[in-house]
Amino acid sequence: MKYGILPGFFDIIPEDSKDPWRSIHIWNYVEKVLRETAAHYGFLEIRTPILERTELFQKSTGESSDIVTKEMYSFVDKGERAITLRPEGTPSVIRALIERQLHTGPSNLKLFYIGPMFRYERQQAGRYRQHHQFGAEAIGNGSPEQDVELIDLLLTSYRKLGLSNLKVCVNSIGDGESRQKFRQALLAYLEPQKEKLSAESRTRFETNPLRILDSKDPADREIVARAPSILDFLNSECLDHFQQVQALMGELGIAYRVEPKLVRGLDYYNKTVFEVMAGELGAQNSIGGGGRYDGLVESLGGPDLPSAGFGTGIERIIQTLLGQQAPCPAIEKPWLYIIALGSEAKLRAFKILHELRSQGIPAEMDFSDKKLQKMMQRANASQAAYSLVIGDEELKNNCLSIKSMQKGSVEKVSFEEIAHFLKSMVVPNS
Ligand code: HAM
Repeated sequence: MKYGILPGFFDIIPEDSKDPWRSIHIWNYVEKVLRETAAHYGFLEIRTPILERTELFQKSTGESSDIVTKEMYSFVDKGERAITLRPEGTPSVIRALIERQLHTGPSNLKLFYIGPMFRYERQQAGRYRQHHQFGAEAIGNGSPEQDVELIDLLLTSYRKLGLSNLKVCVNSIGDGESRQKFRQALLAYLEPQKEKLSAESRTRFETNPLRILDSKDPADREIVARAPSILDFLNSECLDHFQQVQALMGELGIAYRVEPKLVRGLDYYNKTVFEVMAGELGAQNSIGGGGRYDGLVESLGGPDLPSAGFGTGIERIIQTLLGQQAPCPAIEKPWLYIIALGSEAKLRAFKILHELRSQGIPAEMDFSDKKLQKMMQRANASQAAYSLVIGDEELKNNCLSIKSMQKGSVEKVSFEEIAHFLKSMVVPNS
C-alpha cells in the first residue's frame, strides 16, 4: 500500500484476529494490572514528553551503547535543535526529576511510566521500531532492599498477569573501580584471540569490551565462555551489596540464576543488573530488565542520588501471556442489541438506549432502517447477549420479547423492566 504503515510499527486495533496481541482490550487490561501493581508498591505515575534533546540520551543511555550509536530517531527541528524520539524512559525521568526538583520531598522518589519508545532496530520477530514499556525508577536509595523491591515489583506484575516459567538472571557489574580492573583483565584475555571475534565484537573491543560478553555470535560465545568473571573483580562493597541482594531474593522466595556474563546494553548501570527471560518469545526472549545506576542523576547535573529501575516491554508481556494461554478478559460485548421497526418505535428505542447506557449497561441499536433480516444479522455479529425487536405491537402492548442470542430462548418484559432484567441476567466482564 502506497501510504502503508512504516516497517517495525504496528496499529493496536479493537480486535485483531490475525495477531491477537495487537487487540486494544488486552493492552488496556495489561496496563491496568501494571498500574495497580505499581501503586501497591508505592510508585507514582509520571508522563514525560516523547521528544527530548538528543544530548540527553547521548549523555545517559551512553555514547557506546547500540541505542545511541545506531538506533535513535534523531533529527533537527525547525528551531535548529537536535532532538530525538525517546528510545527508553530512564533519561527523561531523571531529566524531569532534576528540572522539576522532584527529589526535594521528604521521602525517596519512586516513579513509574507506561509509553512508547523508538529504536531503529533491525527488523526481527519481537523487535519493533516503536515498542511500549512499563518502567519503574526508584531514586535516592542505594540499598540492596531497593534493588530487590524493584525485582519483586516486576515479578509480581508478571504473576498478577498469570505469566509463569520466567527465568530471572542477576549479576553485579560493580562500580567504576571494579569495572576498570575487570576491563583490563578481559582485554588481556581477548587480545590474543581478537581476530577470531565477530566484526561487531572487534569494534566493541575498542569501545565497550564488556558488551562482548553478551554477544549472540557463536564464535564470540565460544571465546567468551572461558573469559574471566566480573564477579572476581568486585571490591568488597560491591560484593557485599550483591550478596545481600541475593540473600533478600532468597528471603522472598524468588528463584534466580547468577549470570556473570549479563552486562546489559546501556552505559549507566553499576552494581546490580537483572533480566527476566520468557521462553515463548524466541530469540528476543528478554521480557524485562534493569539495574542500578548510581551515578546517572549527578552526571546529568543533579545531586548525587543512588538509583535503580527496570523496563519491561508490553508487546512481549502480551505475547507471552497469549503464548502461555494465561486468562485474559474478553472484549466487552453489548448486553443488548435493539432493533426498531418504524419511526415511532425508533424514537422510543433511541431513548431506551440512552437510558440503559446511563445506567451503565452497554447497549447498541441499529440506526440503519434496513430489512429486519439484515438487522438481525448485525445483532448476531455484534455478539450481544440479548436482542430486542420493537415495533408497533410492542409499543401498543408494552410487552417486549427479549431474546437470548446464545440460547435462542425468549422472555417477556415490559419497557420498565428491561434494565432490571439485563442486570439480573448478564454477567459483566471482569
Ligand atoms: P531495555 O532492556 O533496553 O532497558 O528495555 C527494556 C525492555 O523493553 C526489554 O526487556 C524488552 O522487553 C523491551 N524492548 C526493548 N527494545 C524493544 C524492541 N525493539 N521491541 C520490543 N520490545 C523491546 C531499558 O530501556 C531501560 N530504560 C530499563 C531501565 C529502567 N533500567 C533502569 N531503569
